[in-house]
Amino acid sequence: MKDSRGVPVSSDNPRSLAIYETALKALNTYRGDPVAIIDEALAADPDFAMGHVLRASVLVTMWERSVVPKVAACVARLDDLGNRGNDRERRHAHALGRWAAGDWDGMRGELDRLLMEHPRDLLALQIGHLADFFHGDRDNLRGRVARALPAWSREDPGYGFLLGMHAFGLEECGGYFAAEEMGRHAIELEPDDCWAQHALAHVMEMQARQAEGMAFMESRQSHWAQKDNGFAFHNWWHTALYNLDRGRADRALEIYDRSIRPEPAEIQLMMLDAVALLWRMHLQGIAVGSRWDELAATYEKSGEDGFYAFNDMHAMMAYVATGRAKAAAKLLKAAEAAVSERGTNAMMTREVGLPILRALDAFGHERYRETADLLMPIRYRAHVFGGSHAQRDIVHRTLIEAALRSGDRALARALSNERVSLKPHCPFGWRLHTNANA
Ligand SMILES: [Fe+2]
Repeated sequence: MKDSRGVPVSSDNPRSLAIYETALKALNTYRGDPVAIIDEALAADPDFAMGHVLRASVLVTMWERSVVPKVAACVARLDDLGNRGNDRERRHAHALGRWAAGDWDGMRGELDRLLMEHPRDLLALQIGHLADFFHGDRDNLRGRVARALPAWSREDPGYGFLLGMHAFGLEECGGYFAAEEMGRHAIELEPDDCWAQHALAHVMEMQARQAEGMAFMESRQSHWAQKDNGFAFHNWWHTALYNLDRGRADRALEIYDRSIRPEPAEIQLMMLDAVALLWRMHLQGIAVGSRWDELAATYEKSGEDGFYAFNDMHAMMAYVATGRAKAAAKLLKAAEAAVSERGTNAMMTREVGLPILRALDAFGHERYRETADLLMPIRYRAHVFGGSHAQRDIVHRTLIEAALRSGDRALARALSNERVSLKPHCPFGWRLHTNANA
């Protein structure tokens, strides 16, 4: 059989394939629980290879240690199926196996090759796209989708989602005009594409169009902030950022309580957005009540230390903000050990993760000059541990604040000059600039 985009599937069970399409659509729109959906197919048809592939792929998008055994179990099941799966499915299994073994770069390369043969494999495109994001690989965020686009046409199911992904890659590469055009086209075709909405949110963030961004997000809530939308917390985070940078911290905290951190979820992606808002406030001396304590406590029991450098950075921020010296020391030790392990995170931690953890630890001990010295050499290389420009801005903000607090006026002035030159419409940048020139 073939899926609705003509991609060959080894199954001969139409019901399994129909459920696969439903689960994939749930993943495309980040709505509901694609794993629960596909499990229904797997319960009746345990040899459904693409079911196992989709299940594992969705788990991978969480990018945390807790899902590794479940991904590995799917890979083992796919290995058992052997030649009953087709070549594309075995490639998927191989990519997933690499991820489970910590070779994230290998996984991306494998998906690249798969997509060269099967550019209409929407699952491979979306998982590859997200994997590129977790590597901060802006070129491949754009390139992977661009390579596949000519094999698609407007009538194909899911074409709009492809444009939404392309919009984000264009944005991360600094092509804001093209990204906006692509993103708006995407939501025209798929109004509930919250990833395209997100790409547009990034464009407005990078161009400091905060007032417009706030209105844009609020006015389209019915398309991206539905109750069952698993990505809404992040789009709310962007909305909170606009508010914060316009000096509306109260509104940002309201959004935090209602939509970013309404409950103490133990999901790294959700935790890091919560930290990323509170740390920006911490740098500005804005009181946030007891919000940090819950977050830091959740990190402490998470068992994720040393798995992914980008997550580690946010855990450290929670420890520093709450003065948890023991937890910070334990995290540093785990990251130091991670450097000598095999896999992609070793490189990420060595190149940027560890210097950032040390810089944050120094910040917590008010050794601000040390923070600045550690961050200066890596601030333009931080993309190797993943995230977006908007997310990694937290590194630049921390550096400028450290320069200000250490009394290094020349550095603070230079960095705030750079900031207002590149983002002249951002009120927060000008507040920093005023402080640096006081
Ligand atoms: Fe984002």
